[in-house]
Amino acid sequence: MRLQGKVALISGAARGMGAVEARMFAAEGAAVVVADLLDELGQALVAEIAESGGRAAYVHLDVTDEAAWQSAVESATNDFGKLNVLVNNAGIVRTEQVLETTEQIWEDVMSVNAKGVFLGTKAVIPAMREAGGGSVINISSSAGLTGSTQNAAYHASKGAVRIFTKAAAIQYAPHNIRVNSVHPGMIDTDMLAASRVGDVLEQRLEVTPMRRIGRPEEIAYGVLYLASDESSFVTGSELVIDGGRTAQ
Ligand SMILES: NC(=O)c1ccc[n+]([C@@H]2O[C@H](COP(=O)([O-])OP(=O)(O)OC[C@H]3O[C@@H](n4cnc5c(N)ncnc54)[C@H](O)[C@@H]3O)[C@@H](O)[C@H]2O)c1
Repeated sequence: MRLQGKVALISGAARGMGAVEARMFAAEGAAVVVADLLDELGQALVAEIAESGGRAAYVHLDVTDEAAWQSAVESATNDFGKLNVLVNNAGIVRTEQVLETTEQIWEDVMSVNAKGVFLGTKAVIPAMREAGGGSVINISSSAGLTGSTQNAAYHASKGAVRIFTKAAAIQYAPHNIRVNSVHPGMIDTDMLAASRVGDVLEQRLEVTPMRRIGRPEEIAYGVLYLASDESSFVTGSELVIDGGRTAQ
């Protein structure tokens, strides 16, 4: 019960890592707001959590829409009385190199991955201040720490999340709001399948000391730590969970 009494909102939680985090948070005692564009999957997850004795609610959220963030936060505080934790997890990937990246691709990726994190953080600060503090966990990537032969816009967006996290951490530390980034390596989800171009995954495995793809649970445990009071002195930090890939 590491999150007993806490209320958490997770964006992009209908599937992938967000869904695993939602299940884990509920099992650890949090009330969880599952927010996504994928309504059916999100509602099914909420029903599953309720069946296993947890507390959860679903809200439709496009992370690029500031007004939608306001309603998502309102719905969390109306349903569960407060908001303590935000996981900015929603994200999209595009694989193009710089020359193939159109303005539209750049704007789409920056809009979901970077602007979405900014809008989410902005939206929860008043509610977290009211709750006496909180924890914002921004899902960046190993792609926010290093470059590669593809994913030009994605690298830029995840790098933006890394430094935005530090700025927000400094600005809201006086309000007891902690803000940290998590940097997963390759993790077994639909997104990884979508970003497979040629033998790029095999190439990346070769430079990953642990020589395997990670499981969503291996990220969720790190996010759980940052959401809980166990990390009460941790802010502005980068939690890298990548099988050693960025160590070399
Ligand atoms: N899978 C990996 O290898 C990997 C590695 C590093 C970082 N990440 C990051 O982890 C996070 C989760 O990714 P995943 O692998 O679980 O991917 P996923 O595609 O399985 O899940 C992403 C979720 O975000 C939602 N989403 C997308 N755009 C949205 C929007 N505008 N508004 C609301 N929700 C939206 C999707 O509907 C989906 O449910 C992402 O930020 C991703 O960039 C993934």
